[in-house]
Amino acid sequence: MSRAVCPGSFDPVTHGHLDIIGRAARLFDEVVVAVGVNPSKSRLFSAEERIAMLQEGVGHLRNVRVASFTGLVTTFCAEHDVQAIVKGLRAASDFDYELPMAQMNSALTSVETVFMPTSTGQSFVSSSLVKEVASFGGDVSAFVPGYVLGPLVARLAQRHG
Ligand code: PNS
Repeated sequence: MSRAVCPGSFDPVTHGHLDIIGRAARLFDEVVVAVGVNPSKSRLFSAEERIAMLQEGVGHLRNVRVASFTGLVTTFCAEHDVQAIVKGLRAASDFDYELPMAQMNSALTSVETVFMPTSTGQSFVSSSLVKEVASFGGDVSAFVPGYVLGPLVARLAQRHG
């Protein structure tokens, strides 16, 4: 069975993430969406909240499940019998950032990294930009699912008083 992981922070999940996950699910028998939990990084949403949103987003995909991980993504791959890491590439800058990680992960284990270009409509969408735009009252409804939009606006309002 071919199994891939889509790792990320997903703070919060965007249509861009869901596009990559859905396309990976057509290429691999099973896809595990792995939410990175790093207590030293401050996140808008807790790991549990990020996982719940992702579960809602992938609920219709029978071969996709959501998990969390701490530590190295390669350790997660070894523990879950995962052969490939799938990463979305929006632009050349993503490639510059991802290539050394892919090479390091390949030097550490036999896991392969598969780069997937984002769909054209999603190439400028990132969780950070979505949060920035939403924090200033911009409309981000085209970039995140409805079940993310409400909690996102509410959490940002809570943060900024
Ligand atoms: O959505 P992000 O913030 O780009 O996700 C980054 C993530 C979680 C995929 C990346 O930071 C990661 O793989 N972290 C796990 C730690 C690790 O394996 N680091 C070494 C990579 S060579």
